[in-house]
Order: sequence, then structure tokens, then C-alpha cells
Amino acid sequence: MHLDMAGISHTLDKHGQQHLLQFWDTLREEERQSLLHQLEHVDFQHVDKMYQQTKDSAGIIAQSIDKFMEPVPSELYGGVKRNTAEELKDFLSKGLHAVSNGEVAVILLAGGQGTRLGVDYPKGMYSVGLPSNKTLYQIQAERILRLQDLAKESYGKSGKIRWYIMTSEHTKHATETFFSQHDYFGLDKKSVVIFEQEMLPCFDFDGKIILESPSKIASAPGGNGGLYRALLKEKVLDDMSQNGIKYVHACGVDNILVRMADPHFIGYCIAKNLECGNKVVAKTDPNEAVGVVCLVRKNGTKGIWQVVEYSEILPETAQRRLSDGSLMFNAGNIANHFFTTDFLNDICRQHDDDLPYHIAKKKIPYVDCHGATIKPAKPNGIKMEKFIFDVFQFANRFAVWEPIRSDEFAPLKNADGASDDTPTTARNAVFDLHARFISRAGGEFIRNEGEQVVCEISPLVSYGGEGLEERVRGKTFESPCIID
Ligand code: UD1
Repeated sequence: MHLDMAGISHTLDKHGQQHLLQFWDTLREEERQSLLHQLEHVDFQHVDKMYQQTKDSAGIIAQSIDKFMEPVPSELYGGVKRNTAEELKDFLSKGLHAVSNGEVAVILLAGGQGTRLGVDYPKGMYSVGLPSNKTLYQIQAERILRLQDLAKESYGKSGKIRWYIMTSEHTKHATETFFSQHDYFGLDKKSVVIFEQEMLPCFDFDGKIILESPSKIASAPGGNGGLYRALLKEKVLDDMSQNGIKYVHACGVDNILVRMADPHFIGYCIAKNLECGNKVVAKTDPNEAVGVVCLVRKNGTKGIWQVVEYSEILPETAQRRLSDGSLMFNAGNIANHFFTTDFLNDICRQHDDDLPYHIAKKKIPYVDCHGATIKPAKPNGIKMEKFIFDVFQFANRFAVWEPIRSDEFAPLKNADGASDDTPTTARNAVFDLHARFISRAGGEFIRNEGEQVVCEISPLVSYGGEGLEERVRGKTFESPCIID
């Protein structure tokens, strides 16, 4: 699309956004070109609709579904402690088989801005301070490498796990450079696909798009649900189809314990013939910042699957308990989703427009009447986000999988100093898990009561605790312990 100045001005007038040109006369030629370029890429009709819909539904989402929410029934729960050893073995072999056939891909959600962690580079490049100093990206790459080997050992065929990394304007370039500088951490460069999600403009509370500087519109990545538009636009679906991908494990970049392309989870979803599955863990307390999976069933309908996000659930709903004292809504979402590629194709082509926008009130830098950028002290506007899990409503075959929480969930959200989800809690979660790997494999890990040990096992040695027996059985270990 190419609009001339008159065309742009007319469009802005029509949509009440004329203020975006208020500094036009003072701009240099390249600033004008840049602003025009940004304006050309805003679909104002879509933006109007999106703002209106979001404004109308703000605050009423939680109230309106609260009385229709039901917990996930136990028959739709699989899990490490819920299935028999034989079933687990079967799921594992189905998952490994799919990997060895090259049918499995990972989508990494890495387009967030990492505002809470407070670093100005992609979170995947963050090192929580393990002895190896490995970053999240490196740990994830090495888990993929190890899993490919495990699948080959089991089935004699070496399938490649394609790794699709969703970035945004903030994270794409740095991520590409980082992977290339580190030689893709030993992965085949051709099997790593870095793509970009769209940015959306930010609004003030009256629906006016915010100018961040005289020639720049304030914008932010449109939430991890921007995935579906990006899969189509960036031709990722085509790439999946050309490479014979049938199953996708989508996960957040920030969980240091994430099991990339988890063969148990994938095998479970294959065995149950699911089109969409989700990993959940019991919440530590009602206020934990995780969304909860539930069934929303209105007036005798069969109901739809939904995650009610922690920022949107009513406090009284989050606190409801069953007669045994457990939380009624306890299926905490750990941002690990399974999709068949058929399901993804259907969503991207038929349903993306039906996904709601969620509002987040934020402090958004804005330009004052003199052209200076001001960082506000309190929220002055809204960001709109789609959520990846809002597609669960379209799934006909859906179930959840419950891993052992401390084996698989330790997200990095906040900077040290916060009460949870910090570099320190993530690092300690790795140490504790790896010390348990040693004990489970028949070694003895000596630790004093209450002592925080240091123990790191390279993902290239063990993906999920396997393959350690020969090295550790009958032996004694103590902190610091490094196995690589
Ligand atoms: C997310 C889940 C929440 C879950 C929690 C577990 C969503 C919307 N919420 O919360 O239900 O309990 O993880 O840790 O999924 N991202 C993008 N593009 C964006 C925004 C985010 O790729 O535009 C990525 C982030 O990089 C991150 C993931 O999505 O990997 C989740 O980020 P965020 O939206 O911040 O959700 P959380 O609050 O972490």
C-alpha cells in the first residue's frame, strides 16, 4: 500500500487521529519518511474496530464468565503421576517416534519485551548465572540436540526438530545475531527459523494512538496470540508443510526447565488423538500469576476450553476451594501448548479474527507539546494483546497434561529482589532438579539441611534425567557438582 500525504491526512481525519501529524512541519525529511512509513502500516479501520471491541468488553470478561466456569474434569487429565508406568512408556515412545520421523517442531514465544526482568536485550540471551553461564537460548538448543539423539537411539532414524522462534521488532535482530555468533549452538542452521510478529499501536484512554516522539508512534508486540497472524504472514505454515511437520510444541522463552518438544507430552497428545493440548500444574497459592484452564459452559451447551488469565480472574473465583481444601481452579497454565499442524492451519486461516484483544494498562512514553518524550509515573494508556491460548475454544479434542511441577516449571519473569520468578529462583530450580536427577539415577547427593546446592548437568548429557546411571550409580556427590 502506498498513500500520499493528502491520503494519509484524510485517513487520519476520518479516524480521529490527526494529532499524529502535529509535529509534521518541524520534522526533517527522513523523519517524515519514517512517520509516513509507520502510518502506512497501520490498518486504521481494523484499529478502530479493535479499540472499540476491547473497550466495550474491558472489565466484563471475568464477571461475565465467572458463573459458567467449571474445573477440568479428571478424565481429561494425563500426567506423570496420573498415568501408569506402562502408559508413560507408551507416550514416550510415541513422542520419540514422531521426533525420529521429523514430524515435530517447537515454536518458541520470544517476542515479549521482558519489561519486568528489565533487560534491553531478548530474554533468551539472559544467563541466570549457572556455572556454565549458559543462556536460556543455549539451554533450549542443547535440549533439542539431546532429544534428537535420544530419538535416534530409540528408532535408528535421525529426524530434525524444526525450531521456529517468534520474535518481534525488539528481539529479532539481536536473536538472529546471537544465534549466528554462536553457530546455532550446534544445531543445523537450516532447521532454525526466526520470524517476526507484528507490532500494534498503543492508545491513550480516549482511543487516540500515542506518539512516542514527534516522528514515532508508540507500539508494542501484540501479545503471544500474534502468533497466528505471523505464522501465516511469515509463511511458517508453508515451511511446516514443506518439511512434513505434524505436531507442534509451543512454549514460552522464559521457563528455564522447559522440555523442548517434550516427547511425553507430545506422545500423550498423539495417543489421545488431540488437536490441542496444554500442560498444567497445581497453583502454589490462589494469587500465583498463572492463568487457569477451565471449561466455560453456558446454558446446557457442551462448553468451550479457556484459560482465564491471572490478570483477569476475579479474586473470589481464584480463591474458591473444593471440599478437600484444594483450589477449584487449579489447572495452572505453564505456557506449554500442543497443536497439530492441521489445527494451526484451521486457526490461522479461519479464526484469527475471532480472537479477542485483552487490555493491559501500561506506562507508555509519550511526547509533550514541545516534542519532548516523557516517561509517565503511572499508567497513561493501553496495550492490546491477543493470547495464544484463546484458540482452545475452537478445539474439539482437547486435554491437559500434568508434569511434576519442580521438574518442569521455573519461569524467569522478574529481576532479583522480587519475591518470585527471578534469576535466583530459576538457577536454584535447576540445581535442585539436577541434584534430584543424580539421586533418581542411583547416586547419592549429600546436602546439609536447608543448604542451597550447586549442581548443573549439561542438557547434552541428559534431557530429563535419563542416561546418568552409568556415571552416578553408587557414587557420592556434593556441591558444587558439574556434569558435562
Ligand atoms: C504467561 C501466560 C500465563 C501463564 C504464565 C506461566 C499468556 C498470555 N500468559 O504469562 O497464562 O500462566 O505465562 O509462566 O500466555 N510473548 C510474545 N509476544 C508478545 C508477548 C509475549 O512472544 O507479544 C511471549 C513472551 O516472550 C513469553 C510468553 O509469550 O515467552 C508469555 O509472556 P507474557 O505475555 O508476558 O505472559 P506471562 O505474564 O508471562
